[in-house]
Amino acid sequence: MKKVAIAIDGPAAAGKSTVAKLIAKQMGYTYIDTGAMYRAYTWYCMEKGVDCTNHDACVPFVNEVNIVLKPNNVVLCNGIDVTKQIRETRVSANVSYIASYKEVRLFLVDQQRKMAENDSVVMDGRDIGTYVLPNAEVKIFQIASVETRAKRRYDENMEKGILCTLAEIEEDVRKRDYIDSHREFAPLKKANDAIELDTSYMNVEEVVNAIIKIINGKIGK
Ligand code: DC
Repeated sequence: MKKVAIAIDGPAAAGKSTVAKLIAKQMGYTYIDTGAMYRAYTWYCMEKGVDCTNHDACVPFVNEVNIVLKPNNVVLCNGIDVTKQIRETRVSANVSYIASYKEVRLFLVDQQRKMAENDSVVMDGRDIGTYVLPNAEVKIFQIASVETRAKRRYDENMEKGILCTLAEIEEDVRKRDYIDSHREFAPLKKANDAIELDTSYMNVEEVVNAIIKIINGKIGK
């Protein structure tokens, strides 16, 4: 069977990971959550007591950080299970700084490309279609209004028992959108050949079905 890569990019909290997981399951592909890798790196910097806005202090950790994405969506950082911690508000508030450092991106992108070498993958992030997997067979750029995204992330956090307020989440989403799309290296940007999908008024099932239809159209099923 031909190896296939599906890239799903878009701004923070657009629901990419929820749909990417379901699509991977339905298609029998491997799901790769690249945001979790930037989050795990951020968690590590914070554990070390380093200011995440300090590039020079954070970048050397590429030599000692080992991030592993397990098949059941468990995230390990140097052997520690950080699955829950990386979703905390304090990590969300700092991750865009870490993701703007070129050295950290090159370190993580190298691993992401290796993960896509042998398997069919659904990879979600910000720069998958433009930079990590420019030859992906299908590229989706998933968007939704800031209000919709903040509400979705807030509900998700409530379900997971992560304390936060809606206003706090909305501010975080706006701030991350700005930093992610204005960074110099591999910013959040729709690839020229990506299909934009505005999910503001779609439920998860509708989004999944729309993307599966696009995939089947592209890979000839
Ligand atoms: O998708 P997420 O919210 O878990 O991503 C966390 C942060 O990581 C996001 O603010 C931007 C960054 N990120 C990135 O720069 N490139 C990626 N491929 C994935 C995430």
